[in-house]
Amino acid sequence: MSPDEIAAPVPDGMNPDVRLHQRGRAELEFLAAQRAALGPLRARVKARIEASPEVAAWADAPDPRIGDLREAADRALGGSADQAVIGAALRWSRRSLTPRAAAAFEAQRAELAEFAEAPDPAAILDRGDEVVPRYWQYEFHGTTGGWDGHEHMGFVHHELVYRYMLVPTYGDIFRQRAEVAAAAPRTDYTAVCDLGCGTGQYTLKLAERFTRARVTGVDLSLASLRYAQRRAADRGLTWDLVRAPAERTGLPERSQDLVTSFILLHELPPHAVRKVFEEAFRLLRPGGDLVFSDVAPYAKRAPYQAWLDDWDAENGNEPWWRTTATADLVETAEAAGFTEVRQQALGPGGYPWVTLARRPAEEEETT
Ligand SMILES: C[S@@+](CC[C@H](N)C(=O)[O-])C[C@H]1O[C@@H](n2cnc3c(N)ncnc32)[C@H](O)[C@@H]1O
Repeated sequence: MSPDEIAAPVPDGMNPDVRLHQRGRAELEFLAAQRAALGPLRARVKARIEASPEVAAWADAPDPRIGDLREAADRALGGSADQAVIGAALRWSRRSLTPRAAAAFEAQRAELAEFAEAPDPAAILDRGDEVVPRYWQYEFHGTTGGWDGHEHMGFVHHELVYRYMLVPTYGDIFRQRAEVAAAAPRTDYTAVCDLGCGTGQYTLKLAERFTRARVTGVDLSLASLRYAQRRAADRGLTWDLVRAPAERTGLPERSQDLVTSFILLHELPPHAVRKVFEEAFRLLRPGGDLVFSDVAPYAKRAPYQAWLDDWDAENGNEPWWRTTATADLVETAEAAGFTEVRQQALGPGGYPWVTLARRPAEEEETT
C-alpha cells in the first residue's frame, strides 16, 4: 500500500491532489496524536472542575464573571499535575505547528507551489501596509510570524495545518460555515461581502448558497487572499478580493445587501469590533442584512466549557476571545444603527453563535 493510500480522507473544500511526503506528514500527524493523547488527562481535569460546588454555583450567580470562574476552577484543581502537563504540551504544540508545516512545504516547494500560487495576484485590491492595525501583527493562535509569516501562509495553513491537525482534532469544521450561510434571512442577495475572509473557507459556502451574488472578500492577510483567489479560480469562481481592515474597507457605501463574517470578531479588540459593525452598516443598502458568527458567549456555556474556552484562549494566543465572549453584541449592533437584532446558537454549546441584524429600510431610517 502506498503512503497516499493510507493517508486520511481529504476534508471538504481542500485540494485532493496535495500530498505531503511521509516525513512532513508524520511531523504534523504527531502533533495531532499528541493532542489526542491528552484526552484522559483532560477527562480527569473536567471531572475535578465539575465536582466543585463553587464552580457549579458560578452559573447561577446574578453577574457570573469569568475571573471568578477561573479562580474557583484553580481552587478545585489545586495545582493539578494533569493540567500542568496539558498546558506545557499545548503551548509546545502551538509553537511547533507553523514551523513544521512551513518546513514540510519547503521540502516539497517545487511541487506544492504549483497548487499554492494565485492565478492573478495583481487583481487583489491592496490598500497598502499603512492601513494594517498594530493589533493584527500579533502572532494569533501562535502562528509563527503571524498571518503573513510565510509567502504561502494561506496554503500552508489551509491545506496542511487544517488537513493534518485541525480536522483530525475537531472534525468537520467546514459544515458550520455552510450552516451560518444558511442562517441569512434571504437567498436572493446580489452583493455579499465576507469580512475577514481568510483563505475563503466561508466565502466558498456563501458563493454556493447565494449563486446570483457578486462576492467580495476582505482580509488583511495578503497570503490568505492569494490562496482564496486560487481556491475560487480552481472552482471556476471569481471573487473581488480586497486587502483592507474590516473596520475601514474602502468599499462604496450602500453597495452590499449582505455583510457577513465567520470567526472574525474574536480576533479584534473591542474598539475594532464596534467599528466593524459601523462599517457593515455603512456598506449595506437600506433593508440589507448583517450575519456575524463567532465564539459562544461564556454565559451560554456550561461552566467547564466556559473555563476551558478562557484557559485555551489565554494559553493559545487569543488575546481578544474573552472580550468578545463577554461582549454585548446586541447593544453594539443597535448602537451602529441596526434594527431587528437577534442572536442564535447554531450548534451544541452555543457555537457557532450568530448575531443577525438589518439596516432599516430608507423610510424607517429617516423617521
Ligand atoms: C480565524 S480567521 C477566519 C477566516 C475565515 N473567515 C474562515 O472562515 O476561515 C480570521 C481572519 O480574520 C482576518 N483579520 C483579523 N483582523 C482583521 C481585520 N481587522 N480586518 C480584516 N481581516 C482581519 C485574519 O487575517 C484572518 O484571515
